[in-house]
Amino acid sequence: MPSREERASSLNAQQVALRDCTACSLSLKRTQVVFGVGDAAAEIMFVGEGPGFHEDKQGEPFVGQAGKLLSELLATIGLRREDVYIANVVKCRPPDNRDPLASEIEACSPNLLEQVRTIRPRVICTLGRFATRLIGETDAPISSVRGRAKSMEVAGVPVMVFPVFHPAAALYTPSNRALLEEDLRKLKLLLDRDRKALTSQEDEYVAEVAAVPDEHVAKAEITVASGTVGDDGRSGGERAEQLPLW
Ligand code: URA
Repeated sequence: MPSREERASSLNAQQVALRDCTACSLSLKRTQVVFGVGDAAAEIMFVGEGPGFHEDKQGEPFVGQAGKLLSELLATIGLRREDVYIANVVKCRPPDNRDPLASEIEACSPNLLEQVRTIRPRVICTLGRFATRLIGETDAPISSVRGRAKSMEVAGVPVMVFPVFHPAAALYTPSNRALLEEDLRKLKLLLDRDRKALTSQEDEYVAEVAAVPDEHVAKAEITVASGTVGDDGRSGGERAEQLPLW
């Protein structure tokens, strides 16, 4: 497994290689490529849609209003920006903050997948519909999959994908902010559970997560504190919070 330093240097090389990227027409109006930021060996990656005005100027993802909210949400689960890795589906700002086009996503997605392959996170939290569609390989509406985990491979890396609303959707809608906070609490459970599974060598536990059918909304749940997983109501210890899968 590559060290943190090796991963950081590989990300750095990718970033340098992308500096003059002209793979799509977003290159015509950008100030700079907004590659990504954070811990090169992060357990968790957050993936947004694309840079906005401030990100384009500063060269760092999620530094505007939505970024401030993301930092606040991270703090509610004891994480700082430097503990995680933050990137976007497209690395250059779509003019006037319009949605990225399918052709732009197609041109840029190899860069995100290369970041995943390098960082090898255990969890990818997708922020909003574009990241969820690309990373989660689903057309399901974000409202039906948010706050649910899916075990899958992304760029050959086994990960849990965990979609939530985009923070921008919560800036002016308090009810969305409450849902985001609720989902972040579940995300912390998922991270803690995953860490426990890794250290306690509970093979059956991990295998059962992987065996959950890849449906938009599965009935299966992870029983977080007990250390067992299943869709049959079985729990291997004290009953605890249920984390739905999709
Ligand atoms: N919204 C995004 O999706 N990404 C950013 O970097 C900033 C705002």
